[in-house]
Amino acid sequence: MKTPSLATSFLLAFAVLAPVSMIQSETADPVPVPALVNGYQPTWWKEAVVYQVYPRSFKDSNGDGIGDIPGITSKLDYLQHLGVNVIWLSPHYDSPNADNGYDIRDYRKVMAEFGTMADFDTMLAGIKQRHMRLIIDLVVNHTSDEHRWFVESRKSKDNPYRDFYFWRDGKPGPAGPDGKPTLLPPNNDPSFFSGSAWQFDPTTSQYYLHYFAVKQPDLNWDNAKVREEVYSLMRFWLDKGVDGFRMDVIPLISKNPAFPDLTPDQLHNYGNAYANGPHMHEYLQEMNRNVMAKYDVMTVGEALGISLEQTPLIVGDDRHELNMIFNFDAIRSNRVGRDDFKPTDLPTLKAIYTRHAEKLDAHSWDTVFLSNHDNPRIVSTFGDDSPEFRVPSAKLLETMLLTLRGTPFLYQGDELGMTNYPFKAIGDFDDIEVKNAYKANVVTGKIPEDVFIANLRHTSRDNSRTPMQWDSSANGGFTTALKPWLAENPNYTQINAAAEVADPDSVYNYTSKLIAVRRTHQAFVYGDYKDLDPDNKAIFAYTRTLGTERYLVVLNFSKIPVAYALPGALKAESLILSNLATSEQNTSTLHLAGWDARIYKVQ
Ligand code: NOJ
Ligand code: CA
Repeated sequence: MKTPSLATSFLLAFAVLAPVSMIQSETADPVPVPALVNGYQPTWWKEAVVYQVYPRSFKDSNGDGIGDIPGITSKLDYLQHLGVNVIWLSPHYDSPNADNGYDIRDYRKVMAEFGTMADFDTMLAGIKQRHMRLIIDLVVNHTSDEHRWFVESRKSKDNPYRDFYFWRDGKPGPAGPDGKPTLLPPNNDPSFFSGSAWQFDPTTSQYYLHYFAVKQPDLNWDNAKVREEVYSLMRFWLDKGVDGFRMDVIPLISKNPAFPDLTPDQLHNYGNAYANGPHMHEYLQEMNRNVMAKYDVMTVGEALGISLEQTPLIVGDDRHELNMIFNFDAIRSNRVGRDDFKPTDLPTLKAIYTRHAEKLDAHSWDTVFLSNHDNPRIVSTFGDDSPEFRVPSAKLLETMLLTLRGTPFLYQGDELGMTNYPFKAIGDFDDIEVKNAYKANVVTGKIPEDVFIANLRHTSRDNSRTPMQWDSSANGGFTTALKPWLAENPNYTQINAAAEVADPDSVYNYTSKLIAVRRTHQAFVYGDYKDLDPDNKAIFAYTRTLGTERYLVVLNFSKIPVAYALPGALKAESLILSNLATSEQNTSTLHLAGWDARIYKVQ
């Protein structure tokens, strides 16, 4: 296996960087603006490699079984050595944890289980010292029902905070067994976590809206005071030095206040019906003017319900809303409906990336990811987690993520090739989504228990929430407690960071090399993308081209070895990186082993 020396690669990278020109800003000094690269305005967040930390599961520093902020600080060298340069931290705020921190009680406080504000400041300083950046989760579609605003809001109809949330009267229903009329929710909106999205509150005999858990009431963004509060809390964290936000379910912030019933068609995909409300763009632009425009930040929206066609309206350079969004077409290509698993078909996956390249031009930046805390493990889903192919297929997937178009987002543990958990019974799960779905489907007899659990083995969010596997000691070195908050995957004795950092052929060290390749070859960031063989069911072969530089990536998405003739008699010239030992180069036919992944320079 041959890789270019990093020194040579750095020189190459700077050679493609065009010279900077100077423009006059409105107010004062000239500001250097880098010249366009292949039509793209270069920025740090386009060149970033992001790593998501789910704090509860990353590293426990005080032996209570729960990951925490000092734990993260203790692992910053590990992340720096991997080469990632932006950390996305899932919610770290004060929360009663109905949905593991996505239900916030106080936006200006650190969750006590995770540590103190001083711990946060120490972590942030450690990140900056290592020339990395931090983006935090902004969860402002809803709060916790224990947030001060909601505690006030539910007290009375004339409370000053009443309009911070959506309160509506119920609808009269049919007569009950006692002959008295029953009360129904204001409309038929379902919650993402089962049941109605409306909860009756006896204090004022009205319902409040919660698209997620009962303990996650939705904020009313039509109230200007709500928006001011949100902008203010954003500035609070930016003034501390954080570098931006991942915005939770941001397309849901604007609602139709009439709350009409969803049609049967809309009920099939109610996420789409909830997104794109009448004032969504207006509020994002206002947020941008009031907050983002004043800082050098990165923003990425969790864009549930936004189609690819609608994406430029949020991320277009001229729109002044967000920098980029997460589109779920690829990560959910293995689902039937929202919840049922089916294996991904490679041509379908490839077509998604081609469509992205067609629809998102140099003015609409993209993201690339196949995992996060809401989805199962990447290697178990898109690769092959059998003992024979786990390592090569995990490396292949990292190769793809780090050479495709868009800012890559890696999820903690994927750099080790961590796998799904062998769930056996409902008691093995922690997730509120699972527990509610169990009550709604299994307890009611709609779905047999074994079918329900078998599906969750592939789809449950808890697959990716099991604690990080740091070493082969008890509980994978995640905690010194007898029991972590969620069980460690028992395979930590073989799959763990200590072993992988020490092994030059590990998924971790290969991922680190890939990140260096991306950093030093701008073609992987700003280059054009072309799928060479869209219909091939096993091989994914594509090029990234920047000016006269062209790179070829060939991925064998199967365990079957194959002699692969490159389309158009393209020649794989010099090998830059591969996941299995090979010296094959200067050829138009590649002899690929199962789950082989190669990166070549080509003419
Ligand atoms: C999306 C988050 O990623 C998920 O974990 C959470 O449950 C919902 N939004 C609600 O905040
Ligand atoms: Ca702890």
